[in-house]
Amino acid sequence: MIKNLKNVKVIGTGSYLPPDVLTNNDLEKMVDTNDEWIITRTGIKERRIVRNNEITSDISAKAALRALEDAKLRPKELELIIVATNSPDMIFPATTCLVQDKIKAINAATFDLQAGCSGFIYGMITAWQFIVSGFYNNALVIGAETLSKFVDWTDRNTCVLFGDGAGAVVLKADKTEGILSGYLKGDGSGADLIKIPAGASKIPASHETVEQRLHYVKMKGNEVFKYAVKYMKRSTIKALEKCHLSVTDVDCLIPHQANIRIISVVAKVLGIEKDKVYINIDKYGNTSAASVVIALDEAVRQGNIQNGDIVVLTAFGAGLTYGSVVFRWNK
Ligand code: ACO
Repeated sequence: MIKNLKNVKVIGTGSYLPPDVLTNNDLEKMVDTNDEWIITRTGIKERRIVRNNEITSDISAKAALRALEDAKLRPKELELIIVATNSPDMIFPATTCLVQDKIKAINAATFDLQAGCSGFIYGMITAWQFIVSGFYNNALVIGAETLSKFVDWTDRNTCVLFGDGAGAVVLKADKTEGILSGYLKGDGSGADLIKIPAGASKIPASHETVEQRLHYVKMKGNEVFKYAVKYMKRSTIKALEKCHLSVTDVDCLIPHQANIRIISVVAKVLGIEKDKVYINIDKYGNTSAASVVIALDEAVRQGNIQNGDIVVLTAFGAGLTYGSVVFRWNK
């Protein structure tokens, strides 16, 4: 626990899920798959998909406005905005700048953060540091993805997994306890396991890259699986140790929603009861950097999280990256 510094707490949450639903039965008509395989291997029943004209900054702005309303903060009072995403509007400018303009947060600093599916946790810890240090007094952290635009809809290995959506939290300096600890790590030796190979400096876009379908997500799923369990367990324990808590103190664990089997194994190896683990992968699939914050907003609004509860968010993803954040819910 960081002593002699300000407390930083979540004062508002919000999320936005596009209304269009893509079910496993819909996918059966697109690739060689079936509802039973998808449910038993992943836990996913359906996912949300944005329309063609809807982009990451749009859904980010919708989630942001809901979080600001919940926090009772006006956009122009915001001092920092971070969007964690792997599916930005463009390579540059930063999606955060476009969100800032859409929500009219005219006084905020803006940058994007790319850390795979762990991006929201990296963003939350980054914003926490800015506020703890006194540099800013508040921050809006968004996790948002439109990965449906980066998925190869002819590749059954990946297209059944991902969904679109956005979530946001508002953090603010406060007298009462909020964020207690965090743990972040990277493992670039696994960079090849999840990637979009082309369209940037290594392999710029060309006719060949389009023909070879190199602008889509490529993933070695079963190799990622092993890292996912190891790294979410490790970072949860490390983050709890840093604030002198143990797994038995946790009231709600919100893991990255990548695969129900990964979540079950993580809960088992941590020794945490199933009813303390929040799961919504069945409805939304893997929304990457948005997954834990969408789940947090949903859990709070459904009353699964009460004042005083110890909440842990944990994630892993492309990079590889992983991390956890521990906070006391105190709103
Ligand atoms: N429908 C039917 N069969 C399928 C499908 C499908 N959609 N996809 C794969 N299969 C087949 C495979 O072809 C394979 O067949 P084969 O044995 O004849 O070769 C068989 O199912 C088993 O394939 P595996 O890849 O071994 O299946 P696995 O049990 O590992 O499940 C999965 C695959 C769901 C991808 C799993 O490995 C997983 O969830 N991995 C983690 C992925 C992840 O967490 N990514 C998060 C990071 S994403 C980010 O950061 C942006």
